[in-house]
Amino acid sequence: MNSARYDLVVLGGGPAGYVAAIRAVQLGLKVACIDENARFGGTCLRVGCIPSKALLESTHLYEDAKHRFADHGVKVSGLEFDLQVMMQRKEKIVDTLTGGIDILFKQRGVTPYRGRGKFRDSNTIDVTGIAGAEGVTSVQGERFLVCAGSRPASLPTVEEDGDRIGNSTTALSFPDVPQRLVVIGGGYIGLELGSVWNRLGSEVIVLEALDRILPGLDSELAQLAHRTFKKQGIEFRTKTMVASARRDGEGCIVEIRDGEAIKCDRVLLATGRVPTTANMGLDVIGVPTDNRGFIAVNEDFQTQVKHVYAAGDCIGGAMLAHKAMEEGIVCVERMAGISSHMNYDVIPAIIYTHPEIASVGKTEDQLREQGIEYRKGVCPFGANGRARTLGETDGRVKILADRKTDRVLGVHIIGARAGDLIAEAATAMEFGASSEDIARTCHAHPTMAEAMHEAALAVDDRAIHTA
Ligand code: NAI
Repeated sequence: MNSARYDLVVLGGGPAGYVAAIRAVQLGLKVACIDENARFGGTCLRVGCIPSKALLESTHLYEDAKHRFADHGVKVSGLEFDLQVMMQRKEKIVDTLTGGIDILFKQRGVTPYRGRGKFRDSNTIDVTGIAGAEGVTSVQGERFLVCAGSRPASLPTVEEDGDRIGNSTTALSFPDVPQRLVVIGGGYIGLELGSVWNRLGSEVIVLEALDRILPGLDSELAQLAHRTFKKQGIEFRTKTMVASARRDGEGCIVEIRDGEAIKCDRVLLATGRVPTTANMGLDVIGVPTDNRGFIAVNEDFQTQVKHVYAAGDCIGGAMLAHKAMEEGIVCVERMAGISSHMNYDVIPAIIYTHPEIASVGKTEDQLREQGIEYRKGVCPFGANGRARTLGETDGRVKILADRKTDRVLGVHIIGARAGDLIAEAATAMEFGASSEDIARTCHAHPTMAEAMHEAALAVDDRAIHTA
């Protein structure tokens, strides 16, 4: 059996793991990173953020050509799309980015191990199934960082076959456009992938158990989003609990709790994600997981076993790639004695539909529940010159600031480029900015960012371009 010893062994090469491995090398450690997939990058790069954004962009361009080019005086005839080319483009982007991690590892000196890693004892991980290597490779470490990630949650009565009834991975690669697609779950994945197939001509029906879509999002924004997606042709049924879904010949049947049965071509199950911490020997070394599989850590990301750390989706909290990356970095920096910290109050979140939706900090609902007095400034995109030139006037920026101190507590944006605009809000909040700080910052004209500026002015009732 081969054996090698490292200062740090990272188990999982997704956003938390690969970023932590590179940072650890920068800090002078000898590092290995193990992943069971042929490509490093985790869910995000292989079957999550990146491929979904590739398809969202392609289908958005198609939509623009169909509905918005004419407003610009651009005439299109014979417009069609080629699903195969869209898919190939998506795959190429995934290949380039995952291949980029291999190059980064080589340049920085992270040793990659491809195979399934399992703790044999508290200083050894056995890696099986490495392509091209016989048998089991044993990797020893002074410290371990578990970045095991998450997988789509399944429902016992939804009979997933990975084809007609599948999860987000399946819906990223449908071979053809389903005539009718039922999406179970009105969350991030349901809306992003629902949008992709709706734009390509599917009749999309979203079934959501709660009385609203996008739970957790500022409810005003969620309502605006609901209305807009409905106008785009997506059908929503809220307060709709799915009882079961099964194959029925060439199609599927989804049964709702009230007894109604919906026939469709395909089903996308998007009801959240669960950690993938089973069968990796955590029990062998005494690292406990809770009843859902999450690993408990302290603020240094240390588990109950002091030299075993964990970060990313598998420790719970927002299942977002950038949160995982930050945790990976903070974790190894703290190992190295650097006093970095994670600020969980300032983690932006973005939904890449059209309009985009982006959010950071507290929602109005949370402020009300917590009895925190706040002032609110809103700038509708219609008042923004750049939005007019782009033809993107449906949208708004909302800034929530503490009534007494004026400190920015939350920023919520719906509309074109919201995902880019939110970065200013996150930076401002990380520096403890007041709305006055944003209002006093000169914003370039004409830019969408001026909507942030105008909303900051509106907090103090002195907006220039809105009443
Ligand atoms: P989610 O938690 O966003 O939404 C799941 C939805 O399913 C909820 O609204 C829930 O009420 C509903 N639901 C649960 N059980 C149901 C049932 N039996 N019948 C009907 N509705 C039911 O989860 P989603 O969309 O699967 O995404 C998983 C994770 O991936 C999220 O935590 C998200 O943060 C992350 N993600 C992030 C993206 C981004 O940053 N742009 C994009 C896609 C996913």
